[in-house]
Amino acid sequence: MPLSYDDTQRLRDLYKVCVESQHQMLGYPVATDYDYRDLWSFFQFSINNVGDWAEPSNYPMNTFEFEQDVVEYFCRLYHTTLDEAWGYVTNGGTEGNMYGCYLARERFPSGMVYFSQETHYSVMKIVRFLNIDYQVVASNSRGEMDYDALECLLKENIDKSPIIFANIGTTMLGAIDDLQQIQRRLEKVGFDREQYYIHADAACHGMIVPYVDNPPMFSFKHGIDSISVSGHKMLGSPIPCGMVLALKKHTDKVSHQIEYIAAPDKTLSGSRSGLTPLFLWKFIRSTSEQSKKQRVADCLQLAQEVVIKLNQHGISAWRHNNSPIVVFPKPSEQLWRKHHLAVAKNTAHIIIAGQTTANPNRLHQVLDELIKEHRSLMTEKCVGEPVMA
Ligand SMILES: Cc1ncc(COP(=O)(O)O)c(C=O)c1O
Repeated sequence: MPLSYDDTQRLRDLYKVCVESQHQMLGYPVATDYDYRDLWSFFQFSINNVGDWAEPSNYPMNTFEFEQDVVEYFCRLYHTTLDEAWGYVTNGGTEGNMYGCYLARERFPSGMVYFSQETHYSVMKIVRFLNIDYQVVASNSRGEMDYDALECLLKENIDKSPIIFANIGTTMLGAIDDLQQIQRRLEKVGFDREQYYIHADAACHGMIVPYVDNPPMFSFKHGIDSISVSGHKMLGSPIPCGMVLALKKHTDKVSHQIEYIAAPDKTLSGSRSGLTPLFLWKFIRSTSEQSKKQRVADCLQLAQEVVIKLNQHGISAWRHNNSPIVVFPKPSEQLWRKHHLAVAKNTAHIIIAGQTTANPNRLHQVLDELIKEHRSLMTEKCVGEPVMA
C-alpha cells in the first residue's frame, strides 16, 4: 500500500527540516561535510555485522573486511596494533564507554570506577547498569579532573582496584585529563600497573588530538587499556556510530562461541550495522592523512578566531588548546534555543566542525547575535547603575 497523502507530507516536512538544519549544528559535535552518495546503493540490503569481524560468519551480507580496515586505522591512530588490541564499530561513544567499563569490571569484579564531575551523563547510567561502585571526582573550573581529589578518593578506597574513566575532551568544556598525572597518583597511593584499568573517553576529541602538532597523552602508548570515539562527531556519519578499541588481554576474556551465528562473539550488541563501517571506511580511504590534519587545523584555527572575536566584544570566551569547543557565558534562553546551542550551568558552547570552516556564514550570524545581546545587556547595566558623585 502506498503511503497516504498526509504521511507523504510528513516525510516531506521532515526532509525540509533536515535540509535546513543539515550544516547548522553549532552546539553539538556533528560533522556534516561528507558525501556518501556512492554508498546509497547499499541501503537496499539487510547488511548485518553480527558477531566478530575477525571471524568467519554464517551471515554473508556483512562488511567485515571494511570493518577490519577501520579497526586497523584506529589502531594506528591510537598507537597500537591488531596483535595487541581488538575493537569494533559501535553504535556510538556511549556503547564504547560501556564496553570499556564492562571489560574493566570483568577484570576487576569488585573494582571502583572513578570519573570526574564533568564526565558525560551517560557514564552514570553505565555504572548503574553494570552495577559497579563509583566515585565522582571533583573537576577544576576548566573541566579537568582534580588530581588531588582523585588521590584522596584512591586512598579512601585502597582495597578496591581502581577503574579510571579518563576524559580525552569533556562534553561541555573540551578538557583533557592528564593520563600521566593520573598514573602518578595511582602509583603514589600504591597501585602497580596490574592493579588498575584506564578507559579513555575520546568521543569528540579522539578525531582531533591524533592530528595536532603537540598532542596531549591519549593513547595506548600512554598507558590506557581501552578507548572509545564517536564516528558521527568530528569524523562524520549520517547514522550515529563509533569505534571502541581495547587490549586483547581484556577482550579475549569476554569472547564466547555462539552456535546460532556459528562464530565467536565479544561485542555488546547482537546485530550490528554493516553500513556504518562503510561510512567510516570511506572517510578514512578518501582523505589523505595530510588533509585530515588540515581539516583539524582549520577547525582549531576558526575556534580560536571565535574566541578572539567574542573577547574583542567583551564576552569572556575561551577554549582549551586542542579543542574546537568555544566556551562562553550562557546567553538568553531565547538565543540558545534559537541556535540550538548546548548549555550547562552558567556556560554555553559552540563547536567548530568541518562544515563550519567550509561555510562560516551561520557561525558569524550567531556570533553577531551573541555580541548584540551582550552589548544591550551591558548598556542596561550601565543605565541601571547609580551615578557616583
Ligand atoms: C565526552 C563524551 N562522551 C560520550 C558521549 C556520548 O557519545 P554518543 O553520543 O556517541 O553516544 C559524548 C557525547 O556528546 C561526549 O561528549
